[in-house]
Amino acid sequence: MHARGPRLPRATVRRQQARPKGRSSPVTSLGIIGSGNIGGAVARLAVNAGIDVVLSNSRGPETLRHLTDRLGPRARAATPAQAAAAGDWTLIAVPFSAAPHLPADALVGKTVIDANNYYRLRDGVITELETGSLTAGELFQRYVPGGRTVKAFNTIYFEHPLPRPFRRVPRPQRAPHCRRR
Ligand SMILES: NC(=O)c1ccc[n+]([C@@H]2O[C@H](COP(=O)([O-])OP(=O)(O)OC[C@H]3O[C@@H](n4cnc5c(N)ncnc54)[C@H](OP(=O)(O)O)[C@@H]3O)[C@@H](O)[C@H]2O)c1
Repeated sequence: MHARGPRLPRATVRRQQARPKGRSSPVTSLGIIGSGNIGGAVARLAVNAGIDVVLSNSRGPETLRHLTDRLGPRARAATPAQAAAAGDWTLIAVPFSAAPHLPADALVGKTVIDANNYYRLRDGVITELETGSLTAGELFQRYVPGGRTVKAFNTIYFEHPLPRPFRRVPRPQRAPHCRRR
């Protein structure tokens, strides 16, 4: 038992002391277009970090009620254009085939987080990507020409960054040592 808590490594203490005091995140709201696996996971992370989220999908805000209810008062649902307009930054997490239908006007001047991947079987054949004349990131940027795109979250499985209670990790049944915590 540590009376004053565990000792931190010296390098960690130095980093903490060097951090400017009172500087908060420049992002207080995140618009989300595509509220499935990745969009829902990032929404959870954002809410846990004290960021307001505005979620959207292709079927309309009323279909996201179950998700916003679970996320709590920092979350609300809207149309894709409204979500883009509301966020300091906007996360796009849709099948690549939906990228041409994004509300490009509402994304002008925004930082746009591109979590998307191209899968031929799901998205259909996209010639530029098949021939390698463009990367998926370059093609995506063409669909949101006024946005500053940054690629993120596209190489991880959506559950991995989530805290344990929000993961749905498969467990063998009847294995007491594998019970969810
Ligand atoms: N799953 C992963 O672990 C993972 C990891 C890294 C990257 N990615 C990439 O991230 C993207 C999303 O994957 P996901 O697994 O989150 O997909 P998903 O669970 O199928 O969710 C896709 C979301 O996009 C919405 N959507 C589709 N078309 C739209 C449109 N035209 N306008 C607005 N919203 C639209 C869907 O809304 P509706 O349901 O209303 O149609 C749904 O909310 C994909 O490009 C995927 O390759 C996924």
